[in-house]
Amino acid sequence: MSTDKDKQASNQMWGGRFGSGPDAIMEEINASIDFDRKLYAQDIRGSLAHAAMLAKTGIITAEDCDKISHGLNTILSEIEDGKFVFSRRLEDIHMNIESRLADLIGPAAGRLHTARSRNDQVALDFRLWVKEELGRTEASLTRLISAFLDKAEEHADTVMPGFTHLQSAQPVTFGHHCMAYVEMFGRDRERVRHAIEHMDESPIGAAALAGTGFPIDRAMTAAALGFREPTRNSIDTVSDRDFALEFLSLSAICAMHLSRLAEEIVIWSTPQFGFVRLSDAFSTGSSIMPQKKNPDAAELVRAKTGRINGSLIALLTIMKGLPLAYSKDMQEDKEQVFDAAESLELSLAAMTGMVRDMEIRADRMRAAAGSGFSTATDLADWLVREAGLPFREAHHVTGRAVAMAEERGCELAELPLADLQSINPAITEGIYDVLTVDASVASRQSYGGTAPAQVRSQIARWRAWT
Ligand code: ARG
Repeated sequence: MSTDKDKQASNQMWGGRFGSGPDAIMEEINASIDFDRKLYAQDIRGSLAHAAMLAKTGIITAEDCDKISHGLNTILSEIEDGKFVFSRRLEDIHMNIESRLADLIGPAAGRLHTARSRNDQVALDFRLWVKEELGRTEASLTRLISAFLDKAEEHADTVMPGFTHLQSAQPVTFGHHCMAYVEMFGRDRERVRHAIEHMDESPIGAAALAGTGFPIDRAMTAAALGFREPTRNSIDTVSDRDFALEFLSLSAICAMHLSRLAEEIVIWSTPQFGFVRLSDAFSTGSSIMPQKKNPDAAELVRAKTGRINGSLIALLTIMKGLPLAYSKDMQEDKEQVFDAAESLELSLAAMTGMVRDMEIRADRMRAAAGSGFSTATDLADWLVREAGLPFREAHHVTGRAVAMAEERGCELAELPLADLQSINPAITEGIYDVLTVDASVASRQSYGGTAPAQVRSQIARWRAWT
């Protein structure tokens, strides 16, 4: 809250044409320092690069540049040591730092803002932050992918039921199922890499919106800040938040993937399925029902998807219909991205831990894989291959065999040969070779299929690639 004294004074950074300070409510709605202080390191890096460029191009003196750089480094330590006093009256991180710089070095501080505006400054700081965050996301995805590769390798031969409509469809291997997630998170990681490449352009030097009359060197600041090149249109530069939206979109897609995995873990860990046992580290007990072990971490990951989707929709809506170039609406971009980034990081870390720790109950998976007439397609395929039936007819014959097994309360492989032959005389003893889950799984050698050999070759491909 501002003091009376603060209120009387007009803003010291832009107060030239203002008679009095902001109303308390105005200050409340206008200030972003409570959240954009997160950008302090990027702001200081950007200012150091900008000052060095101003000195190199002769816009400020080397002496002033030294003072500015020294002051900025002092501020960095102050913030990192928790000694810096942030003020709402100074609105945002940019003005908090610049004001402190003036305290520390005097009038030379006023030269730092030559040939720039908070519009290109915030675009720079935020882009640097998002780019760094994407680097963390990429590393987290790599950890999750590698947890799945290890599980897939260990369980390349472990049979489980494959589902469609959450009904038993055909036997698959758990390794194959794990590799489906490797593909999904691999695509997420590709999206991260594309986004980094896409946003790798430096906004600084666009100034307020029109560029500047000072002889700046934008290539120099771009290189100093690790960007491939400067942006090409100053109006677009200060009004663009696509980089934040791309971050949020890829986060939403990744969170959607995580929520599907979370849902499967919730289902698999029920006593009814019993496919996995979660480690104590990633589950909780019930305060009333002693037998329970709840998959809370998975449920929370599933729920975080809602927050991340919300952030994407919020920022899309904030940006929708904004005229070019900068509008203060855009200040609302940061909390969405910060919140989504935190949720995604946490979700990725929790899932990696859960996947690494979970115990696979191969016996339960095998029992379920063999139930529900899961090898019916193998029977039909055998009739096509060995007895020359058209697939549609084979499907019909198999349907009758399933009905017979269902009526007797047995599995397909338990039907006597004579009974199968009563349905179709072309059936021979050889049919029993394809009715087991192992035979079913081993036969699916098509590229990308569930046969252990196929799964192992995909694992090897990913290991070489990752
Ligand atoms: N705090 C502002 C933001 O986050 C910085 C840019 C302010 N620019 C301006 N013209 N008022 O968007």
